[in-house]
Amino acid sequence: MEIRLDEISVVYGREDVPLKALNKVSFTIKTGEAVALLGPIGSGKSTLLQVMAGLRKPTSGRMIVHGQEGPIVLSIQEPQRGFFAATVREEVAFGPENLDLEPAKIEARVTWALTAVGLDRDKWETSPLQLSGGEQRRVALASALAMKPRFLLLDEPTIGLDGPGEAALRQTLQRIRTETKIGLVVASHDPDFLFMLTDRVLVLVGGELRADTTWSAWAQKAAAVAPDLELPFLLGLLRRLAEAGAPVNAAPDSPADAWNELFRLRQEREKGGTG
Ligand SMILES: Nc1ncnc2c1ncn2[C@@H]1O[C@H](COP(=O)(O)OP(=O)(O)OP(=O)(O)O)[C@@H](O)[C@H]1O
Ligand SMILES: [Mg+2]
Repeated sequence: MEIRLDEISVVYGREDVPLKALNKVSFTIKTGEAVALLGPIGSGKSTLLQVMAGLRKPTSGRMIVHGQEGPIVLSIQEPQRGFFAATVREEVAFGPENLDLEPAKIEARVTWALTAVGLDRDKWETSPLQLSGGEQRRVALASALAMKPRFLLLDEPTIGLDGPGEAALRQTLQRIRTETKIGLVVASHDPDFLFMLTDRVLVLVGGELRADTTWSAWAQKAAAVAPDLELPFLLGLLRRLAEAGAPVNAAPDSPADAWNELFRLRQEREKGGTG
């Protein structure tokens, strides 16, 4: 299954004061891909995710979805605002119930999704409104997962999570990626979270797609394209080492490669005996 965007534009506001939130954005994404959506505040990330989820009609351009193996589901910036059910279990069951599945299948999906996000079983019968912020985020993610999406679009999923909560979310998403052939698109202001989870980078600046690339290539041109955007810590560190003359590859494609570069640099220094 793949989603193709062809010159998508979205204009907000009145005709006399139009605001171009997206300007002729084109790209294709396939299931199995994990894509980071980067961009400064107000650059159009949320708007783009809404278009991809079919929640916002573009002003011009078109979106073509090839294949029908499952829905495209968006989990929004503050998903807990939409909670309405009396219990966590009912909240997560709501989506599958609307798909007209048999009760046993709904039950299986709810159990799978709540287990996947690691929410303690003793919380499943309580009101979602009585949970902590991190637990509410897990319920929201479980609601999305219970739809068995082919594409899962996440808007700022780490907001309101602490360090361990963020690590748990990352591990959950990584596991779901290996267990299912899901496609992930994640908009976030947290470059480290994205670097660990994704292998393709889309960059929006002022509603325009300014880069569609790998992390290594993005590290090379970030300063020119979007100087205000922070690089993932490891990529920034390697760049500074390279600029200081250290013999490192300043543009690895994954955190594992980045760590390998740092280890290699240390080993070479030890071998050289210059300390
Ligand atoms: N419903 C709306 N009506 C009018 N203008 C809007 C609406 N939603 C967004 N905008 C404007 O469109 C532009 C893009 O907004 P969008 O929310 O897509 O950006 P974003 O990249 O998600 O920002 P952030 O990083 O703050 O989440 C902004 O200038 C915003 O003010
Ligand atoms: Mg946004």
